[in-house]
Amino acid sequence: METKSDETFVLLGGTGDLARKKLLPSLFNLYKKGKLGDFDVIGTSRHDLSREEYVRHVGVNINKDETWDEFKENIRFARLNFYNPEGYEVLQKKLLGCGDQRLFYLATLPQHFDVITDNLAALDLVNETSKVLYEKPFGEDLRSAKKLNRTINELFPEENIYRIDHYLDKELVGNLSILRFSNSIIEPIMNAEYVDQIQIIASEDFGVGERGGFYDRYGAVKDFFQSHLLQLLSLVGMSTPEKLDAKCIRDEKVRVLQGVSIMDTMTGQYEGYRDEEGVDEDSTTETLAAVKASLDGPRWQGVPFYILTGKNLAKKYSQIYIQFDKNNQSAMAGDGTIPNSLVVSIQPDRGIYLVINTKVPGGMQTEPAKMEFCHACHHGPNTPSAYENLLAQALAGDQRSFIRYDEIEEQWRIVDGMKLPEPTIYKPGKVPPEVHNFIQDGEWHGLS
Ligand SMILES: NC(=O)c1ccc[n+]([C@@H]2O[C@H](COP(=O)([O-])OP(=O)(O)OC[C@H]3O[C@@H](n4cnc5c(N)ncnc54)[C@H](OP(=O)(O)O)[C@@H]3O)[C@@H](O)[C@H]2O)c1
Repeated sequence: METKSDETFVLLGGTGDLARKKLLPSLFNLYKKGKLGDFDVIGTSRHDLSREEYVRHVGVNINKDETWDEFKENIRFARLNFYNPEGYEVLQKKLLGCGDQRLFYLATLPQHFDVITDNLAALDLVNETSKVLYEKPFGEDLRSAKKLNRTINELFPEENIYRIDHYLDKELVGNLSILRFSNSIIEPIMNAEYVDQIQIIASEDFGVGERGGFYDRYGAVKDFFQSHLLQLLSLVGMSTPEKLDAKCIRDEKVRVLQGVSIMDTMTGQYEGYRDEEGVDEDSTTETLAAVKASLDGPRWQGVPFYILTGKNLAKKYSQIYIQFDKNNQSAMAGDGTIPNSLVVSIQPDRGIYLVINTKVPGGMQTEPAKMEFCHACHHGPNTPSAYENLLAQALAGDQRSFIRYDEIEEQWRIVDGMKLPEPTIYKPGKVPPEVHNFIQDGEWHGLS
């Protein structure tokens, strides 16, 4: 039987966008599924809100049903300025009346992480069973990430620390390890002998919206490539871990990241970006980046990894495309056949498909066909969101889809070492020709 414990969720930054749109709705879903025991949620903010005002504020984005009234009884509020010790004393008093299994979620901007960490430690709020969750971005370069890791690791053991990259909790990203390590026909061909090239694409069809001020400091490489895309690269590139536990998986991912070499980069900026709110009028921040990388070691020797992320492109999709048929060795090579490929489609369509050559009726002509696992057809449209998954995993103490200190440092080391060229200006909704020309031996899969 599933064990339930007395959990207290402390949302540091409890009035923010993330707390309202993702965290409270995810906690409510977990509650409705019976996955929370006796629990409390304590939201914090600098504002002097009553409990009722706070509940109203965070309730706006909730898809309410009859259980909301029960759920909201467990929501509390603590006024807390991250820089003022008095607020932590208020929080400490509130915690006394709550369950002992504490989950502190730093749902705020990264510049506050150091001071929050220090204050949580100063009042001994983090106990042996506590989990401390750090939102992304974790630092803004190798130096700041190392400094933050040092602060954290001096105060809390790594077992209590959960660095978030919510991409890892998307259903199809979670499926990647299962696909590779539980299917004996897949893993033997995941190497340079069979794979021709790999593409990792995260294309968005919208601009920076209200995040201009934040985005302009980071750009596509630090915001998306550094985190989500290097994580996907490490999951695709890793060797079979000794065990599918957090330590072994993260050891293998670090090994991949240590062996990444950047071979080529191009960047772009969409027309009108400099007029967005919060963006510098002379900004040279890239809103698009295409990267060609290689991995050290015999498994992927000579296999290019093409990685693309961009805002305001023609469509929104994320996928991993693995192209086989290295050297066109099939008996019908050159006879109109196409290279086989395996595609993990992360969003918006979720699924995995293998593209094979098939016979057209009435002759020996070939045409490509998909052998497909459609996630929504199989599991329905309403599988848990990434945030619901990550909260459930943190609750269970499962660190597999959270990032260890050395992974994040390797990610920043790669990014710090990149020399970004001047961005090419491109029209919103259009993929610039430089992106199409970036791949010499093929084209980006699905990019129009
Ligand atoms: N929004 C999303 O969907 C999303 C998705 C992925 C990752 N993230 C990441 O999540 C983090 C939070 O994003 P967000 O969009 O929720 O930001 P936000 O809307 O700006 O919220 C920031 C929160 O931090 C609090 N805060 C700021 N300064 C404070 C201080 N000195 N003392 C106490 N509280 C303070 C704010 O509370 P008061 O102003 O009420 O005091 C607010 O609750 C960021 O690192 C972001 O990159 C967000």
